[in-house]
Amino acid sequence: MRRALLFGVALLAPALPAEARVTAAPGARVFRLDGNGVTYALGVDDKGYLRPIHWGGPLADGDPLVPPIVIEPSSFDPQPTVTAQEFPGQGEGLVTEPGVKVAFADGNRDLVLKYRSHRVDGETLTVELADIARPLFVTLRYTMDPYTGVLARSATIRNGGKRPVRVDQLAAAVFTLPSGDDYRLSYLTGRHAAEWTLKEVSVTPALTAIESRRGLTGHGNNPWFAIGRAGRTAEESGPVWFGAFAWSGSFRISVAQDVVGRVRVAAGYNPYDFAWALKPGETLDTPVVYAGYSDHGMGGASRSFHAFQLTHILPDHARGRLRPVLYNSWEATAFDVTEAGQMALADKAAAIGAERFVVDDGWFGARDSDRAGLGDWTVNPRKFPHGLKPLIDKVKALGMDFGLWVEPESVNPDSDLYRQHPDWVIAFPGRPRTEARNQLVLNLARADVRTHVLGWLDRLVSENDIAFLKWDVNRRWTEPGWAGKSPGDQQRLYVDYVRNLYAVLDELRRRHPALEIEGCAGGGGRVDLGMMARVDQVWTSDNTDPSDRLAIQDGFTHAYAPAVMMAWVTDSPNWANTRVTSLDYRFLSAMQGGLGIGANLLKWQAEDVVTARKWVAAYKTIRSTIQRGQLYRLVSPDASASTSATMYVAPDQRQAVLFQMLHSSMWRDNPGAILPLGLAAERRYSVRMLGGGALPAGVPAVASGAWWMTQGLRSPLKGDFVGAAFVFEATP
Ligand code: GLA
Repeated sequence: MRRALLFGVALLAPALPAEARVTAAPGARVFRLDGNGVTYALGVDDKGYLRPIHWGGPLADGDPLVPPIVIEPSSFDPQPTVTAQEFPGQGEGLVTEPGVKVAFADGNRDLVLKYRSHRVDGETLTVELADIARPLFVTLRYTMDPYTGVLARSATIRNGGKRPVRVDQLAAAVFTLPSGDDYRLSYLTGRHAAEWTLKEVSVTPALTAIESRRGLTGHGNNPWFAIGRAGRTAEESGPVWFGAFAWSGSFRISVAQDVVGRVRVAAGYNPYDFAWALKPGETLDTPVVYAGYSDHGMGGASRSFHAFQLTHILPDHARGRLRPVLYNSWEATAFDVTEAGQMALADKAAAIGAERFVVDDGWFGARDSDRAGLGDWTVNPRKFPHGLKPLIDKVKALGMDFGLWVEPESVNPDSDLYRQHPDWVIAFPGRPRTEARNQLVLNLARADVRTHVLGWLDRLVSENDIAFLKWDVNRRWTEPGWAGKSPGDQQRLYVDYVRNLYAVLDELRRRHPALEIEGCAGGGGRVDLGMMARVDQVWTSDNTDPSDRLAIQDGFTHAYAPAVMMAWVTDSPNWANTRVTSLDYRFLSAMQGGLGIGANLLKWQAEDVVTARKWVAAYKTIRSTIQRGQLYRLVSPDASASTSATMYVAPDQRQAVLFQMLHSSMWRDNPGAILPLGLAAERRYSVRMLGGGALPAGVPAVASGAWWMTQGLRSPLKGDFVGAAFVFEATP
């Protein structure tokens, strides 16, 4: 990981003398973190409470940094309930969301946290809080990335007493924004095959909870938020506060206005069904919430966050290596996987330029449908009589690397694994259990299950020349019981499961440093920064319709980098909605992320192969710009019923690609020019059509960045479901 530079984090105390900026009462302590035009400041007031001071654009040196004045509107809203705390304990009449809520063994549930100490280690500020009377401690950590201004925050609670304490709620961070009635919250929601729908609601005193209660991140709500201001925030302008919780289990991000109109955001473990028995001397850590600020609208926010993810979140490979063009056989064969069939597909995939060949579900156990076999991770001898080696050898001889689908966390009741270990599943003993897709969830929180899962994965990768795993999970939790666990520790499941998932992924990667992994959960059901730190790419959605995908991809990129967003070209009509589209359109949609092909190549005509080969080759000339560049959502598919446009600009601004996609046109339409963004104004750029072909009439072959960005490009498109991509190259 690239280390943040020391000068990027200006901590008032003690990196600079605290007095230099403190304008509060003598003895007050104020902390300030600065990075890339973002300032975050907090301080201790004269009563010892830790108060938020500022989060937003940069403050000037010497600006007064004082914890906000206490106001008491009425006897119904006493001081602690109206003055924002940086991380409030549930006590003293607090009525906003707490950072932490506990129950002591004697039944006392009053927790009042005050400043105890702080430390600065390199770029990290640590502040310790303690209850006013009992030995319960909360440690808050803050690290700001100097290049993007993204702040990493997390918390740890420690029981310093002699009796257990039950933790009922624990956030990684609580944020406070200034008062205002014009805040708008954007979040991402959806369902299977319809993920990544961007919604926007007003922030009001009615609490909005973006959450998962499902045990995994889920398709429903993604752990990401962005808050702008009505009338001021647009795609490329205005303030945006944003963040994402790096956790792959149940989570909650709550947003509400408090009684004096300030916006409070709390992100952490979901308090729904949460309880953690914190024994004497024990600690409980939260995952990290990453939060940023931009003055350049939703586009500026996502570009800043993408850059941060590329630099700090993605594992080494994904940082160092562009995503190979992959072929995956799922939509072509479903469970009907055979050595001969896969070999035939591999020949075709190599011929169009694929670099990775992935065998999906169906290669193992008695897996002829979704009713059996999950859990039995041995190669099916009927389908692969000689094991996987002949196929892998062939794939490698064709110049591709080899990948395999796995679903390590699930089991079909009709499997040898389940017959041997019926107690390994998540369920309440003696109660009915829900099956979904005929499967149950293995209790990965158990040490024996973790050891088993790591063991077979390690053997599979060690014994076969496997470069890539698609790691899937195809159901959420129901009946979240942990057989054999004491009643007080049952709900540790929510935390221990995800920790063990991470431990297995981390250890597998450690043992196989060249292995790449794709995160998948019935499409995009488990995409979050916790997974993204452990996988090289994610499967965005099972919906592969190229037009639906434009909206899905638009939503996805509000939170996460196109560098990890996989998109396949599949057959037409599409399985999801029976829509018929041209192969050109399908490629132009899919190449706006990591390109894959999932069609049944054995049914393609010769001209399809020629078309596909052309687009795969064209993609390779721009993929570095797509995967490493800055993304501008010029016209969102949701903003216009007909045209959408996205633009990717290479970090050095030498190449840029502008995609225009037309959903449908009417004769009366008179589309305006689309204005590129992000080019270097003074540089001269030539322009060409990706994939060849003549430029539309009236488009000059060369002009300055300023010219392109003011004159724009009029869409050459006519018809339904058509697209085009313009490639800008800086002239020497
Ligand atoms: C999930 C995935 C698909 C495919 C199937 C296989 O639905 O999202 O891409 O791998 O499982 O069963």
